[in-house]
Amino acid sequence: MDELRIGVIGAGGRGGLANEAHKPDQGSRVVAACDIRPEVFDHVRAAYGADLFVTEDYRALLARKDVNVVFVTTPDYCHEEHAVAALEAGKAVYLEKPMAITVEGCDRILRTARKHRSKLYLGHNMRHFAAIVKMKELIAAGRIGQVKTAWCRHFVSYGGDAYFKDWHSERANTTGLLLQKGAHDIDVLHWLCGGYSKTVTAMGDLMVYGQVPSRRDEAVRGVAAFNAANWPPMNQTLLSPRIDVEDVSMMLMRLDNGVLASYQQCHFTPDAWRNYTVIGTEGRIENFNDSGHCVVKLWNSRADGYRPDGDEEFVTELGMGGHGGGGASIVAEFLRWVRVGGSIATSPVAARFSVAAGCAATRSLRNGSVPQDVAPLEGGLRSWFESGQG
Ligand SMILES: NC(=O)c1ccc[n+]([C@@H]2O[C@H](COP(=O)([O-])OP(=O)(O)OC[C@H]3O[C@@H](n4cnc5c(N)ncnc54)[C@H](O)[C@@H]3O)[C@@H](O)[C@H]2O)c1
Repeated sequence: MDELRIGVIGAGGRGGLANEAHKPDQGSRVVAACDIRPEVFDHVRAAYGADLFVTEDYRALLARKDVNVVFVTTPDYCHEEHAVAALEAGKAVYLEKPMAITVEGCDRILRTARKHRSKLYLGHNMRHFAAIVKMKELIAAGRIGQVKTAWCRHFVSYGGDAYFKDWHSERANTTGLLLQKGAHDIDVLHWLCGGYSKTVTAMGDLMVYGQVPSRRDEAVRGVAAFNAANWPPMNQTLLSPRIDVEDVSMMLMRLDNGVLASYQQCHFTPDAWRNYTVIGTEGRIENFNDSGHCVVKLWNSRADGYRPDGDEEFVTELGMGGHGGGGASIVAEFLRWVRVGGSIATSPVAARFSVAAGCAATRSLRNGSVPQDVAPLEGGLRSWFESGQG
């Protein structure tokens, strides 16, 4: 491809990520934007130029022959429809996580990409977070021996603002927050542990936000902006009129390589970060903070008590744009891959398995924690993507 001419479906909100791709002097330019909220258009015209094509109908954007790359940054419940249409139109697609809200949706996206030979890239930007990359490097270098178990605790202080005021609060739009938010972490756990979940079980509940009395009017769009003054969580105001997703979820995974992993998510913590620890046959690693200034500690000698310092410490810094530092790095990787191919850190197959594991766990937590098998992916599709999409 010569110039990458980019269209963004869902130009507001996360669509701002396309700013990282708008580098006219380096051969990539945002030329079209779609959003169902026309108020977004002034903002994107200011960012990308007055001649930007704007539309409220994604089909009009996809019909443009001058667009060869599409970012799909709409809400989760739109991903399947928008990604399938963009791939059918022959565009190279950057698709935000989670890939879709059902396994069937993911597999339809994968089949469409293969059928039309359209490039599909999944926006799992945590694979570009410096602290996570450092943990992956330490594991690959054998610093903790063979990985046997990994645990993630996910504290979401902004949960009440970001997930219980708009579309995120309803199962119909997300399946549940264990999938919506946890898709990142299930993917990271799979990546660090070198396998995919085979069987999962989970427990969860709507423990706090269901009891908050202040609700917005059904007809008014929810405002999901973080406000530190909304504390403690019971003082939240203008939550969604309908909340049927959980605010606490806990999931156990047995991976196909025998590793056991766990993930815990809570939406009413005072602080916000993810804490991973991975334990192998010869040591343990753990991250402290996950964006900005982070420390990854390694313990690989023995003690019979608490040892906060570890044997070695690795400091990582942000320095690469927003959202944990992954934004600029992941978009640069996507653009390079569209142009010239080569290896990439994210994977459509892995994204699909994070959705499949999240869906199975959500089923488990809503059905008495009964263990659930994760839906397998047909071999032909898996090998197509694992061998680099043709
Ligand atoms: N990787 C990350 O770190 C990260 C961070 C934030 C959001 N996300 C993902 O990005 C997606 C969008 O999240 P968000 O918080 O920006 O949501 P949002 O509600 O702000 O939606 C994004 C934009 O899409 C527009 N939109 C909604 N429906 C549309 C439609 N049918 N056609 C065209 N435009 C439409 C909205 O008006 C909005 O401007 C989600 O899937 C979310 O999981 C990922």
